[in-house]
Amino acid sequence: MKTEPGSVPAGRLARLCIIALIALTLLSAAAGFLWLPSVQADFAARGLWDSICRAAGVSRDWGSGAASGQTPRVSTNVVLLPEMMRPAASDVVGRGATLALNCTMCHGAQGMSRSDTPNLAGQYPEVIAKQLKDYKSGQRSSAIMSVLARGLSDAQIAELSAYYATLPKARTAPTSYDESLPALVRVGDPMRNIAPCIACHGGVDQKLGAPWLEGMPKQYLVDQLNHFKSGMRSNDSGQQMRNMSRAMTAAEIDQVALFYARKTKPSFD
Ligand code: HEC
Ligand code: HEC
Repeated sequence: MKTEPGSVPAGRLARLCIIALIALTLLSAAAGFLWLPSVQADFAARGLWDSICRAAGVSRDWGSGAASGQTPRVSTNVVLLPEMMRPAASDVVGRGATLALNCTMCHGAQGMSRSDTPNLAGQYPEVIAKQLKDYKSGQRSSAIMSVLARGLSDAQIAELSAYYATLPKARTAPTSYDESLPALVRVGDPMRNIAPCIACHGGVDQKLGAPWLEGMPKQYLVDQLNHFKSGMRSNDSGQQMRNMSRAMTAAEIDQVALFYARKTKPSFD
């Protein structure tokens, strides 16, 4: 075979390549299995097999099965139950139910009032909590509720709110939002700065803190709107209810209250 002067013969070149490849493989194996793991804090030199297993991410006893005699590695000893999806809900609700025995006389056994007191069944928990705290602090006044709320701790308020939220709501919400609804409820009156009730009280949207009004006793709704209008009730942050009710006529207040109440008494069907 004729070779150019100064060039490496083809056979030698192939041998050199193979040697270089083997050297590179050994070097990278040493680096990957020994050198790199050895820099880690929990490295213990337990031989090549251990290092290989470690680098590959498998157990050292891999393959030896239960014969290893070690306790199997469990990631937790917590037993998950479906009820735990709502953390601590059941005992909070349970304590709330007991406390609510003091409220049934006026707010009904199932949170549905038979008089003109508000329904609490299915009311948003944050609404009940806010109103009770407002009664307690004097932000909202009521001869009865102020006295009762002053006797409640924050934990008890949270328990009552959680309990009432679990009770079924009055089901009077309309299934469509067409022309049959009072205009104030549906579109409000922009000229008088009255926003549509359904934009905050549910139907289209619910603003945090806006109570569920469906099925409330009509007289209660009329009273609250009048109390906002006169400023006697002033615990609406941002004054939104005071501003809107001031712009409403007595006939309009009657109309929207009738719409939300629909039934003056719950049907219990
Ligand atoms: C003696 C009757 C009576 C009892 C007992 C009573 N309430 Fe009331 N509650 C009322 C009346 C009346 C109102 C409306 C007061 C107002 O005009 O602000 C009211 C209002 C409320 C409101 C405001 C609801 C809303 O939609 O704004 C909440 C919350 C409430 N009560 C919770 C309770 C809880 C919880 C208990 C038991 C610890 C209780 N009440 C016991 C009569 C009572
Ligand atoms: C911008 C949002 C918003 C709009 C629009 C709105 N409300 Fe309210 N409303 C609230 C909030 C928030 C509260 C609770 C205030 C508080 O914290 O006491 C409330 C409270 C009430 C209450 C007292 C309920 C109770 O259980 O204490 C009545 C009644 C009421 N609104 C009726 C209406 C009517 C009727 C309309 C339409 C004409 C309307 N609201 C429009 C936000 C709104």
